[in-house]
Amino acid sequence: MQAHRPMDSVRFIHRVLRTMLNGMEQTAANADYANDQQVGAIAGQFQGVNMMLGEHIKQEDELIFPSLEKRVREVIPSYSADHTQDRELLTKMGGLLADLPKTPAAQRGALGKQAYRTAVVINCTSDHHMQKEEAIVYPLINKHVGDDEQWAIIRQLYARLPVQMFPMAMPGMMRLLDQEEREEQVRDFMKAMTPETFKAAIAHAPKGMSPAEWSDLQRRIPELGRV
Ligand SMILES: [Fe+2]
Ligand SMILES: [Fe+2]
Repeated sequence: MQAHRPMDSVRFIHRVLRTMLNGMEQTAANADYANDQQVGAIAGQFQGVNMMLGEHIKQEDELIFPSLEKRVREVIPSYSADHTQDRELLTKMGGLLADLPKTPAAQRGALGKQAYRTAVVINCTSDHHMQKEEAIVYPLINKHVGDDEQWAIIRQLYARLPVQMFPMAMPGMMRLLDQEEREEQVRDFMKAMTPETFKAAIAHAPKGMSPAEWSDLQRRIPELGRV
């Protein structure tokens, strides 16, 4: 078994993002754009995607990628360019979803098609981008950046996380992990978050698993019983 590295947990964030993007694409594919409630449902999912993907891109650009770029040149620019395209797509999707309710229901056909196409493009390009990061960028980071520097980055990253993200992100992430992965992720949180941030984050974890799984996690990580 390969040793656990601090930056490995990024694959869990990618898993959450993939699930959210697939969900938004599916809703956008099946929506009746003349129906305000259904447009509102896509807008709700988009809000989550925009917050999570936007934050993840920012973390990679500002905290994670510079650690590799100062050692290995010419890898990161292509990934930063993908991020720029992602930001543009998110802005475009936000604009379309804001315009839809302001347009008479009978005239929403073209806007609805554009919103659906944009959801597909964001999903496909992000999935491809994350696959490349997992195959190329993160293995290079593990090769060139030591654990101490990786933990320092993760600590900064958690310190900057918007607290309003926890009620949605924590249960969402826990739901997508098995018990071993949950234990790995919670131990990483505990190690890299301040006690206050950890307390705020972990409060939302039980909503993402069964009571029996939460008890099992508390048995695996006895400190959980004391937060
Ligand atoms: Fe990225
Ligand atoms: Fe990423």
